[in-house]
Amino acid sequence: MGSIDANVAIVDPILGWGLPQLRDFPWRQTNNRWHVLVSEVMSQQTQVHRVEPKFNLFLEQFPTPAACATASLGELLEIWQGLGYPRRCRNLHEAAKVMVLRHNGEVPTTLEELVALPGVGDYTARAVMAFADHADVGVVDTNVARVLARVQNKVLGKKEVQLIADAIVPEGLGWEWNQVMMDFGATVCSARAPKCEECIVKLQCRWNCDGGQDPAPATAGTSKPQSRFEGSDRQARGKLMKALIAGAVRFTDAAKVMGLVEQPERCKAIVQGLLEDGLIAQVNGWYQQP
Ligand code: ADE
Repeated sequence: MGSIDANVAIVDPILGWGLPQLRDFPWRQTNNRWHVLVSEVMSQQTQVHRVEPKFNLFLEQFPTPAACATASLGELLEIWQGLGYPRRCRNLHEAAKVMVLRHNGEVPTTLEELVALPGVGDYTARAVMAFADHADVGVVDTNVARVLARVQNKVLGKKEVQLIADAIVPEGLGWEWNQVMMDFGATVCSARAPKCEECIVKLQCRWNCDGGQDPAPATAGTSKPQSRFEGSDRQARGKLMKALIAGAVRFTDAAKVMGLVEQPERCKAIVQGLLEDGLIAQVNGWYQQP
């Protein structure tokens, strides 16, 4: 895993930089494992300013896994509207059902049980452990992976980054360290415009904007870049799902709702995908919320 010393050397300075100015988010005010999980699922691929109001609304209606599991997916999707990537919402619903069936209605505690939940991967599982339970695990999202790679000035594989991230967490400070790293990656060591001049670890950093190639590609190997939204299938799916909140849509009107009157084959394929994903339902010639 290269030389981890460089990464260890950034811990104290970054903690000192970040703790006094931690960004304030509602999910940083709670140790509730369900609330933390919901915030993390919502934050995947969605900007935090969009997440905040939805987070509050969602938890008012579904304050526990049981409340979520007994609601219909349609009810959940109504709140999810605007966050995008609705499969995340469906997975969260499925995960809530698993918690009710197998975990006494609680979010499970071990890494193994967490990653076994639908839609929960290495990132989300560790985020719950660090942010709800204050466990000393390294939470690696795109931002954190980028920071660690730049400090070593080395392209790092996914496993390698996770090993490093887990190894450098200061003992007993899993919550603090990971929150600070999120802030540091988002505001200083950002993807496109890193502020190397004012960076607290510029002396410890082996990349340091020295003109060399950035060892962290846009996504640092941890997630796919988002594709263009305008004119995309994702946008067309969103249009139909949004329309269904107001009421059912006739089969024959679906293409118009999605703006795909000229592309019936594409429209058919998109609707088919939504049906297969369980994100819409069909009854007697009408599409409706699941
Ligand atoms: N994005 C995902 N998790 C986050 C957190 N805990 N704080 C800020 N941004 C985040």
